[in-house]
Amino acid sequence: MTPKRRTLTIALAALAATGTTVVAFAQGLPKLAQKKTYKVGFAQTESNNPWRIAQTKSMQDEAKKLGYQLVYTDAAGSAAKQVADVDSMIAQRVDAIFLAPREEKPLAAAVKKARAAGIPVILLDRNVDQSLAKAGNDYVTFIGSDFIQEGQRVGNWLKANMKGQARIIQLLGTTGSSPANDRRKGFEDAIKGNANMKILASQTGDFARDKGRQVMETLLQAHPDVNVVYAHNDEMAIGAIAALEAAGKKPGKDVMVLSIDGGREAVQLVVDGKINYVVECNPRFGPKAFETLKQYAAGQKIPTKIINPDKEYTPQNAKALLSSAY
Ligand code: AHR
Repeated sequence: MTPKRRTLTIALAALAATGTTVVAFAQGLPKLAQKKTYKVGFAQTESNNPWRIAQTKSMQDEAKKLGYQLVYTDAAGSAAKQVADVDSMIAQRVDAIFLAPREEKPLAAAVKKARAAGIPVILLDRNVDQSLAKAGNDYVTFIGSDFIQEGQRVGNWLKANMKGQARIIQLLGTTGSSPANDRRKGFEDAIKGNANMKILASQTGDFARDKGRQVMETLLQAHPDVNVVYAHNDEMAIGAIAALEAAGKKPGKDVMVLSIDGGREAVQLVVDGKINYVVECNPRFGPKAFETLKQYAAGQKIPTKIINPDKEYTPQNAKALLSSAY
């Protein structure tokens, strides 16, 4: 026993001897009892795009299938609201929380609060700041895509398919979110040191279609010579296509459009020749999320990261894969 822990144990014993109720605080992850049914929270980030809607539907469908009660909240794009949503789930004494953290730092504190209240948390699709909260200690696991690899795949595809100079505009996701940080890193690492690849500008479009369109309109004026758009998600890519067309440019031809997610509308745009390449980020989390919860309750060892396998959509395969896109 460490000296700090010994002092704490003696102090707690002394308190208990005076008749004071002593609540021991959790060391490591809270346990989850094995039950027939659970009341589980799902704290969603926002619902303003098809990816989020597909993710929520997948979670709701699976909870229904299993007969579990799902306490669902939508933070409407506000990290502060999502922190409050987790607080409310703690107050409602849910058995466990599935959290899709909007931003890395503010939600790390919410994860720790749930853990201190004895409620296990499973992170879905986005991560929290690893210097503030750790898998296997503060939360059970992260389930989602490898965002760094997604960015790398886009960068590698560009290197293999670009003829001549690439003059790139990068539309970044939500500032402070793990997909924005990692998709940027993966892409920039992949093209680093390549004299033919130049990023003209990188600006956030907040993963939103209209913001993507507006940002692209502004950046097009400053950089009319752009010939590649790398958007961190489909919604911003579709917004950028609208801006390119309004400026008289042909997306997919004059300007290559590269994206991540693989929603049906974007895959159709690959078929139509307006998007050149999409790396899938699969939003159908329900089955894996609930299976992991049950394994955790059964005392099985859960890996600290569970990575979803993701496909890619190209002009060669997009038509055949269209019907399976979300
Ligand atoms: O965290 C995953 C990202 O969040 C998806 O790429 C995006 O569309 C969503 O809003």
